[in-house]
Amino acid sequence: MTSTQEPLKRVLVTGGAGYIGSHVVFALQETRKYKVISIDNHHNSHPKALTRVSQIAKSNLPPDATEQDKESAEIDAVTADLTKEAEVRAVFEKYGKGGIWGVVHIAAYKAVGESTEIPLTYYQNNVGATVQLLQLMSEFECTRFVYSSSATVYGTPPKIPIPETTRLQADSPYGKSKVMCEQIIQDLTAAEPQRWRAISLRYFNPAGAHPSGLIGEEPRGRPGNLFPLLAHMAVGRVNPDLKVFGSDYPTPDGTCVRDYIHVLDLARGHLLALNALAEDSPIFASLAEDAPKIKAYNLGKGKGMSVLQIIEAMRKATGFDYKYEIVGRRRGDVPDLTADPALAEKELGFKAPHSLEEMCRDLWNWQTKNPKGYDDE
Ligand SMILES: NC(=O)c1ccc[n+]([C@@H]2O[C@H](COP(=O)([O-])OP(=O)(O)OC[C@H]3O[C@@H](n4cnc5c(N)ncnc54)[C@H](O)[C@@H]3O)[C@@H](O)[C@H]2O)c1
Repeated sequence: MTSTQEPLKRVLVTGGAGYIGSHVVFALQETRKYKVISIDNHHNSHPKALTRVSQIAKSNLPPDATEQDKESAEIDAVTADLTKEAEVRAVFEKYGKGGIWGVVHIAAYKAVGESTEIPLTYYQNNVGATVQLLQLMSEFECTRFVYSSSATVYGTPPKIPIPETTRLQADSPYGKSKVMCEQIIQDLTAAEPQRWRAISLRYFNPAGAHPSGLIGEEPRGRPGNLFPLLAHMAVGRVNPDLKVFGSDYPTPDGTCVRDYIHVLDLARGHLLALNALAEDSPIFASLAEDAPKIKAYNLGKGKGMSVLQIIEAMRKATGFDYKYEIVGRRRGDVPDLTADPALAEKELGFKAPHSLEEMCRDLWNWQTKNPKGYDDE
């Protein structure tokens, strides 16, 4: 078959085996326009996640797939630690100067509580490794960068829904590490406005899984987040003592409100961001030549959902009769974290169409097919 296909663009995804990373790899492979290289040290993930994503991509190939299409379904999965310069350098050396088109930097430590106990470890892994990655990118002429930021950069926001113009004021070392990285990227794009293009994506609360049930979230120990906790309870993996922290918040039912987004919608937001770093992209077109080419976007649904609503939705999806106890407020909890996603919609064409029911359905499908996670087989 004679092909008019554009050559594949090589994209390095850090943390590609993780919960969000594996879904981002799926979204990139779905286009058959990117060739994914993943760096992950499996600190918090299983290598099997990448085998499974590749399996999904292969099974989605059309019958008349070209050799290039087949190549796009393979992942160059590198087990390496981003804090170790030599290990990351080897990946850039393999592809040479200009050989990697862009980087989606997802790898990080993400436990807020733990970050207050071992802040230096968090700063080294989240900030130190990011600086080093950017240095290597610069050296190897790879200057397109999508960064995994978080709604946690807003701390306790003064206005709901939260626009991107909100001041950044994170409370925990984890959140501060995200703010610092955003600032470092800002300074870099300001120093070399003709060279660098970057987008920070501020995620709200990802939930759900790929509908195949092949990839999903696999937290270690008792899950700290509500959705995986409810799924683990329903599958009998953890003790079902459920505590709801506070019912006297100024929200419709008194419990905390969060903006949950299906992980596939979030993943597709990365694809839009990556596409927007191309030369002909309109998002930087109106900027002066010497203005930094950097943007930050909220990725959320723009719809808040309360703890009690989530429990009810998971009850419907799983059939499990959750019994909960309402206890006092938890220190550090913010009543409402709902995104204003209007900017991402307008500039990137971002949409988050999946419903709460679909998030619950897909999470439950993943959990029942993999009750013990990736270690099942
Ligand atoms: N899950 C959320 O609720 C959420 C919300 C906002 C932002 N984020 C951000 O999204 C990103 C991904 O989150 P996730 O939920 O997929 O977490 P995850 O732990 O599932 O994924 C992170 C991946 O990075 C890898 N990693 C960590 N340090 C590394 C290192 N030094 N070298 C190589 N690999 C390393 C881990 O092994 C893991 O596979 C993180 O940057 C996180 O801060 C997550």
